[in-house]
Amino acid sequence: MVEAGYVAGIDVGTTKICTLIAQTAANGQLDILGVGLHPSRGLRSGVVVDHAQAVKSVQQSVTEAEQMAQLPIARAYVGVTGAHIKSRNVTGRVRVASGDEITSEDVEQAIQSACDNVALPHDREIIHTLVRDFTIDGQRGVKRPLGMHAARLDANIHVVSAAAGALRNVAAAVEETGVQVQKQVLESVATSLAVLAEDESDLGVVLMDIGGGTTDLAIFANGAIAHSGAILVAGNHITSDIAKLLRISYKQAEEVKKKFGTAFADMTNGDDPVLVSEIGTHEQVRVPRGLIADIIQARLVEIFQLTIKNLEQAGMYDTVTSGVVLTGGGSQLPGTLEMASEIMGNTPVRIGSARGVGRMANRVASPIFATGVGLVLYAANEGADARPPATPYYLELVEKARSWWRKYAQPRISAYLPGN
Ligand SMILES: Nc1ncnc2c1ncn2[C@@H]1O[C@H](COP(=O)(O)OP(=O)(O)OP(=O)(O)O)[C@@H](O)[C@H]1O
Ligand SMILES: [Mg+2]
Repeated sequence: MVEAGYVAGIDVGTTKICTLIAQTAANGQLDILGVGLHPSRGLRSGVVVDHAQAVKSVQQSVTEAEQMAQLPIARAYVGVTGAHIKSRNVTGRVRVASGDEITSEDVEQAIQSACDNVALPHDREIIHTLVRDFTIDGQRGVKRPLGMHAARLDANIHVVSAAAGALRNVAAAVEETGVQVQKQVLESVATSLAVLAEDESDLGVVLMDIGGGTTDLAIFANGAIAHSGAILVAGNHITSDIAKLLRISYKQAEEVKKKFGTAFADMTNGDDPVLVSEIGTHEQVRVPRGLIADIIQARLVEIFQLTIKNLEQAGMYDTVTSGVVLTGGGSQLPGTLEMASEIMGNTPVRIGSARGVGRMANRVASPIFATGVGLVLYAANEGADARPPATPYYLELVEKARSWWRKYAQPRISAYLPGN
């Protein structure tokens, strides 16, 4: 055990479970101590569809990170996404006693009154109440109202809610591995911490995390979140299209996409043949590379058009002044940046990789790690600690469970996973 505290984040994605263990270094950067990256089973678009499979995947990812860090995790921050997430901007008002300064109680009451304005059915829970800014006596854009004089204080809040059942199912899968869920964090909120520069979120930026099952969207403006949402089309849909249209297995379609895929057909010689093996007959067929690009292009166009629609419906499309930041595995196909820019009105687009990381920065540089790094940053900002309580009995128990896992369960499960 190290003396100083450390934090843990688990990104429970549709294609991979990524566990990170990290520690804040003296220079303020985040040192990554352990990385666990394991294919995700039992989850679809942010929702658990097979509890037992999900538990196994989380356990393997956690164990891998713990082994690399040589540290046990007792608590972690866990990512949340999916179609069940809803967000809206609400305002809550308090009257300030005339002539008085605004106190922290006034601020708390204004925030509470904003939350009270959200009618929430019993099967939903609020997961974030994020302060956008305050309005004092009609003047919008106040970041720190404490100590100011006013008659009226309005808190402008971004409230994110989630289906209670979906939240609990993800938490239950994690907790069954012996890791307590300290907080469930909206993935785009976590990702923004890892990839956005301060001036971008001041000016207005769209963050798009093109994952496997969902494309998570968020708009940041005036230094705060202004909108969040998700579309249920992402990288795995591209793979499925390739598999169906070329009549090949999903596994092969994934390989073909990563090796030969581009967002535009004219980025390569479209006539170059790619050899694939047809499902059922196993016959070798030559497919022109341009056809693969056409299939990819159709889905990517859909993803960007749905994004525009989502932002327009929220009345936010015009807020995007400093452009678009793309993360997630689905942003990695060559030409994706250019396509995003073309469809979204020639706006500047860049890939968002995690920043502010010291040790193991290269290991987590791919945009697939952006959410995981965001989760450990979130945890570190809140002063969290992933260390187990230092009672000898507890440590002995955890070590027993983990050695049982390593010795018996892990080798058996590994045998059933692809690539073995
Ligand atoms: N080099 C690559 N080129 C193209 N696509 C890629 C590449 N690497 C990963 N992908 C695609 O990215 C997707 C997975 O991305 P990511 O790891 O960000 O998703 P996830 O976090 O598991 O899913 P979600 O966020 O939707 O729950 C898959 O569809 C995969 O095919
Ligand atoms: Mg993801």
